[in-house]
This record gives sequence, C-alpha cells and structure tokens, in this order.
Amino acid sequence: HVVRREDYRPPDWLVPDIALDFDLDAAATRVHATLSVTRNGDHDRPLKLDGDGLLPLEIRVDGNPVAADLWSMDSGALVIALPDAVHIVETLVEIAPQDNSKLMGLYASGGLLCTQCEAEGFRRITFFPDRPDVLSRYSVRMAADKALYPVLLANGDPVEQGELPGGRHWARWNDPFPKPCYLFALVAGDLACNADRFVTMSGREVQLGIWVREADLPRTAHAMQALRNSMAWDERVYGREYDLDVFNIVAVADFNFGAMENKGLNIFNSRYILADPETATDIDYDGVEGVVAHEYFHNWSGNRVTCRDWFQLSLKEGFTVFRDQNFSADMGSHAVKRIEDVRILRAAQFQEDSGPLAHPVRPESYMEISNFYTATIYNKGAELIRMMALMLGPERFRAGTDLYFDRHDGEAATCEDFVRAMEEGGEIDLGQFRLWYEQAGTPHVRALLTHDPVARSVTLLLEQTVPPTPGQPEKRPMAIPLRTALFDPETGENRGDELLMLTEARQSFTFQGWTAAPILSINRGFSAPVIVETNRSQADLAFLSAHDDDPFARYEAMQQLMVNVLVGRIGGQAVDEDAVIAAIRNAATDPLLDPAFVAEAIRLPSEAYLGDQMAVVDPDAIHAARDALQRRIGAELEPLWRDIHARTRANAFALSSVAKGARKLRNTALLYLAASGAVDGPTVAFGQFSEADNMTERQAALATLANGTSAEREAALDIFYNRYRDDALTLDKWFQTQAFAFHPDTVDLVEELGRHKDFTLTNPNRVRALYGAFAGNQWAFHHPSGKGYRLVADCIIALDKLNPQTAARLVPPLGRWKRFDEPRAALMRAELQRILLEPGLSKDVTEQVSKSLE
Ligand code: ARG
Ligand code: ZN
Repeated sequence: HVVRREDYRPPDWLVPDIALDFDLDAAATRVHATLSVTRNGDHDRPLKLDGDGLLPLEIRVDGNPVAADLWSMDSGALVIALPDAVHIVETLVEIAPQDNSKLMGLYASGGLLCTQCEAEGFRRITFFPDRPDVLSRYSVRMAADKALYPVLLANGDPVEQGELPGGRHWARWNDPFPKPCYLFALVAGDLACNADRFVTMSGREVQLGIWVREADLPRTAHAMQALRNSMAWDERVYGREYDLDVFNIVAVADFNFGAMENKGLNIFNSRYILADPETATDIDYDGVEGVVAHEYFHNWSGNRVTCRDWFQLSLKEGFTVFRDQNFSADMGSHAVKRIEDVRILRAAQFQEDSGPLAHPVRPESYMEISNFYTATIYNKGAELIRMMALMLGPERFRAGTDLYFDRHDGEAATCEDFVRAMEEGGEIDLGQFRLWYEQAGTPHVRALLTHDPVARSVTLLLEQTVPPTPGQPEKRPMAIPLRTALFDPETGENRGDELLMLTEARQSFTFQGWTAAPILSINRGFSAPVIVETNRSQADLAFLSAHDDDPFARYEAMQQLMVNVLVGRIGGQAVDEDAVIAAIRNAATDPLLDPAFVAEAIRLPSEAYLGDQMAVVDPDAIHAARDALQRRIGAELEPLWRDIHARTRANAFALSSVAKGARKLRNTALLYLAASGAVDGPTVAFGQFSEADNMTERQAALATLANGTSAEREAALDIFYNRYRDDALTLDKWFQTQAFAFHPDTVDLVEELGRHKDFTLTNPNRVRALYGAFAGNQWAFHHPSGKGYRLVADCIIALDKLNPQTAARLVPPLGRWKRFDEPRAALMRAELQRILLEPGLSKDVTEQVSKSLE
C-alpha cells in the first residue's frame, strides 16, 4: 500500500485537546485517552482514529458507551460514527512496553519506560489521528510504582504530583503548545539529573535537566554545555527564544536513531549525550554537541512550525541540519566542519542519489515513512537551505526565516511555504530553484576553461546534466549557484570571487584581462551539491592545493589530485605519484595551516569514494591501489610522520580546538607511520594505545593495529575488551573497529563477532557497530565469495522479526548491485531475493528490498 503526496486532504476531524492517563507497568500499561474532537469542514465521514496493535477495551462518546453498530475496526484503526460536530471521545487500551522490540511507541529500555512516536509510533500507544497536521494541547497524568519509577516526565511543564497507595505515585504534566502526536513523549524510571538553568534573552528562567542513570552523571557535562550554547546561538543568530519553563533531555540505551525533539522532553540515544575523555573520541564529542543542538533547534524548526504531512519532512529536517551545521561551525572551525559535512554528504547522499532508492528531497510516494529518514531528506535538504542562504546573503536570509517563523508559528507547513517565505522575505525569485525539491539525482556539471591570448579573455563553459532516477527518466536544468574564482598562475593571487548562476543546460561566462591562462577554482565552499568535472591538469590541482584561499576548494584540489592518481593507477595508466607526495609534504609542513585541516587534506580519499569515481566498482583493485599509495606516502615521508607524531603528543588532555586538531593530525601521522612498513610501526601504535589518556588516541591506535596482523593487534583488542566489557557504548567501538578494519579476514571475524556473547540484535547501536560498520567496509563487504552479502542478509532477516526499522537500514548497501561486476551483482541480487522470500517480512524491509531489485 503506497501513500502519495498528491492525495493529501485536510483532516476530517480535529482534536484541539487530549487528556491521557497512563497506569504504567512494564508488562501491562493501561492508557485512558480523552479526546475533544471537532468536525473539520462540512462532511459526514466518521471519526477515524489510527491504531497499531491496539484493542479498544472501552469506547465512550460524551460519557456513554458506544453502541456496537456505531464503531468498527479498519486495519488497526478505530472508526466511530459521530452525529454532531463536537464530541468527547474516550478510549481505554492495554499495551506491553516490555514486549515492544520495535522501539516505536512506549517501550522498555534498561529498566526505563520511554517513548518514540515519530513518525507513526503514537498509534501504538493509543487511538488517535496519527498525522502531523492534527495539533492538540496535551494534559498527561502518569501513575507508576515509586520504587521502580521514581521519576515521571512528560512534555511541557510539571503541574502536580502525589502519592498513591501500594507504593505507587503519580504526576501530571501540561503542554500549553498545541502539537502533533509525533512530538508526544513520556519517560518513567530511576534517573539522576544534571540540573542547570538558562536565562533567555527576554529574561525568562528555564530549568534545564539532563536525566541519566546515576552512574552516568559525570558524563553529561559536555551535553549540558552544548545545550546552553545552542539556546544562546538560536537567540543570537535566528532571534528564537525557548518557550517553556523546563527543558528536559533523557538518555536511553536502546534507540533506533540519534535522538528525538519531543516538545520540552528530548529523548536521546545515550551515545549522543554521554561523553568523557576516557570513553569518547573527539568525533563523539562533536556528535553530542551537534545532536543536542539539532534537537534543541527543532523547538522552532519542527515544533513551533511543524510539517503538514510526511512528504514535507525535509522542511524541518533539512532546515534543522543546516542550523546545527552552522552552529557547530561557529563552535569550532568553519573550514573543517564544511569538509566533514561534504564528506558525509558524498558518502551517504550521493550514493543514495545514484542508486535504486534515489528520491527527491520532497518525495512523491512511500510505503513506509520510516524509510524516508534519509541522507537525501536530511543532508541534501540542508544543502538546499544553504544554497538559498548563499543566494540571499545573511541579511535577506534572516528576513526570510523571520517571515517564515512569524507567518507559520503554530501551524503545520510545507516546503513550499518555506520557499515562499524566502522569496518574499529575501526578495528573490526562486521559481527554477524549486526543482531542487522535485528532481532526484545529483547534477553533473562539466566546466571547461579556455583561454584566448589574443583577446586576453577566458571563457568558462558550463554544462549540466541530471541523471535519470527511478520514476524520473527526464530532467530539466537546475539553478546551480557556483562560487568561482580565477587564480593568476604567476602571482598565485585570487583575482576575485564570483557567484555564477548556472541555469541552462549549457552556458558560458567570459572574463576579460587575462594575458596568461588562469587557474579555475569552482564550487568553492561546495556552494552546490553537485559533481563537478573540469579540464584542470594535475599541475593546476597541485597549484590550488598550495594556493587556493578557500579552504574547502584547497582540500578538494588535493583530494582530486589523489583521486586522479589512484583512478589512473587502477586503470593501468602511468601516473605521477610524486606530485601527491609533494603536495602532502607541503601541507604537512606548512606552519600556517590549521592541523585539523592538514589532517583532512592529507588523508587519501576513502575506498568508497574511489568506487564512486569508477564506471564499475572494483573493490580489490581500489584497495590494492590505495594501500600501495598509502604505504609509499608512509615510507617516503617516514621522518616527517615520526616528527609529527612525537611533537603532537600532549602532556595533558584538553578539549580545545587546538588540542583536537593536534590529536587528529597525530592519528594521521600514526596511520602513515604504520603504513611505512617501519619495523617499529606496531610498537609505536601499541605505545600510543597504552599511554593515551583519551579515547581519541586510544581508538585510533587500535584501528591502526586492527588493519595489520601483528601480535600487538591481538593484545590491544584483548586489553580494550577487558577494560570496557561492561560499558556498552565503549564496547560498541570494539565491535566497530574490527568490522571496519582493512584486515584480510574481516569477513570471518565479523561472522564470529556476530556469535560473540556480547553481541545482541536487541540494541540498535550494537547492530550498527557490527553490521553497519561492516557494510561500509567496501573491501571486506564485497569479498568475492559473497560471504559478506550473506552475513548482512542473515542479519536483516533475523532483525526484521524484532525491529524492522533498524533492519531496513541495512538494505541499501546490498541494493547497490548495479555498480559492481556481474558475479558480485548476481550474488547481491540473490541475497535480496532470499530476503524477499522470507514469510511475514515487514513493510519496512519489503519496500527497501523490492525497490532495490527493480
Ligand atoms: N526527528 C528525529 C531527528 O531528527 C528523528 C526521528 C526519526 N525517527 C523515525 N522513526 N524515523 O532528529
Ligand atoms: Zn531532526
């Protein structure tokens, strides 16, 4: 059954108020709901309340039991015929949180009871019109055993609490802001609180609470700091203030995604809250900061202004990712953050956009909405906002967002509403730009620079094509903003930045006053999410990698230099590796460069990214070529790596940008030193592993050792395991590092790890740490035997019975079969077909697998 965007109709019934009464118990929770319903428009359709796995134990209308002929069940939903325009409808259901392995609705996690309702989990708690354009004021009462569940939290502000006989107690929470049911949340459990306060720009005091298990309290400081920084940033940059008296965050161990922005009560995967130097890497710290900000920013971009329907998901997610990216850039380095974000976009979104699951930022149809929480909706969606912000400039962009928030506050809006606010507030015509929401596929831009010495001019010819994607064979030209500069090869000087708007299939731009041919720097800052092909030589790229004053473009030139050498080598061409080595030496010895930037720039492109540059991905050839070049860079610059490794060693741990940058560069130096083949490579790595006072260096040393076959490898893995076996988040790293390693036996190791006593399918983080990481390890996953495919397919089949949402997330790597040689493609298809034959397969996995086979 397919849902289509064009079929949108306003709701038949509205629910301005709802009162919920929970009698909480892990085995049997009773939910009594009282809905005030009003007919919306002139029609005689019955009230339809969505339900999933619910049985009505009682139904009342205006206080009276409903006659049997006035209600019925329709594929899980409760349908009630109502005579008048306004009624009070009550239902009673019983649910079993402890048996809820899907982690959608009300479920149990490590002794806690908690909820996840987005997108359609609320219907697993109570009967309700489960769609984001039905907004209600919530009043929630909970009763529970006081010893098991001393803390009772819900959305909004706490209003009352009291004792009950039999060791029970109760609490009532009210949320004054009307919200869709996907933002409902409650938590009950034995939790400790890191309490703080924030005074908003208008002087209101907000109580902040981060709720975790008592033992985890010392690991919440970074999240709290991130929260206070986010609140101040949204006031300063967007003029958005927090609106309730309390803001609570709860960390839970079992969670399908990163976190959830429930109004006033964010619920987080604990990996995005807990951090200390002993167990969290710098990447983890940044993840905490970014996700705390993301969920906080949703209070305006998502909650105060929500989505009309799930096709508009990118309205809140794309915009909020854009906001959290800029926040993180402001907290650290703009250059490095942009490089990281583009790396993620290319790794996840470009792959999605070129495969069978490609879909527009505003999709036209879906079977299961959970499958559309994708890199396209989130990350490409953020790039669309970024392009609009670039075209408008900061002042007009802010005028656009002000208009958007003011105009749609308290409403359920659409992507079109956002674009129109940008047009009106920013005084710009975004007619053609709207295609970015409609057309899937990554545009390709060919840029050809030609010099005319007689006319002393250069012409930049730009040609764009958008590849066909499922359901969209023909594409129209897009509006592509390309930040461009021309460099004088003699002086090394940038003679001016320009924003070129490419709007035609083929378009040229001429620049005067060039006696000698300049060097082209294009898509600076990655101004548009496109693939650019240029006619630049390796010498041009080497020039830019030394001189470009846009850090992203400089990084990009360096990466392209490496890609050309590696792809050339794989294709059997003669290539000049010395140019790469020289560029790396230059960057690594330039005292003016930020070490974090250097670390990004001198690392070889990933095997997956190299695969994306090939017509047919050859995982073995890619691995061999990249590994050989890495060894050569290691060997030729060995003294440099030793020097960097020694001088970036810190005396004491700090979390400053400077200290983080030093660690990043140090770990890169260790990687090259180990690759150099120096006999003491494993000893140096093991030394770093043993001496490090932080997880960033310890984990990187472990990863370096895990690539090899030294005795130190086994020793380090054992030590790591024994030290962290009781700390789930850190033990995830032990699984992940092995699954991601360039080790000849990774496939067999992963199979063994799947049978390890600490492996479990019930914890999504653990599943992602092992099978998610493995499926991202191109060389190992695409082992010619097909064993990697079988392992992942077996996992999907087993996990689908427990948690379809998380199972479906493992399908896309298998769906990329068209990109591989026929023997591999056949093996991948066979696994997809085997999954499809499984009886009782979920809608989630069915949709992903069947689309992957088309
Ligand atoms: N809105 C949440 C976030 O971005 C993600 C919720 C995903 N949940 C789901 N069932 N797909 O931050
Ligand atoms: Zn979000």
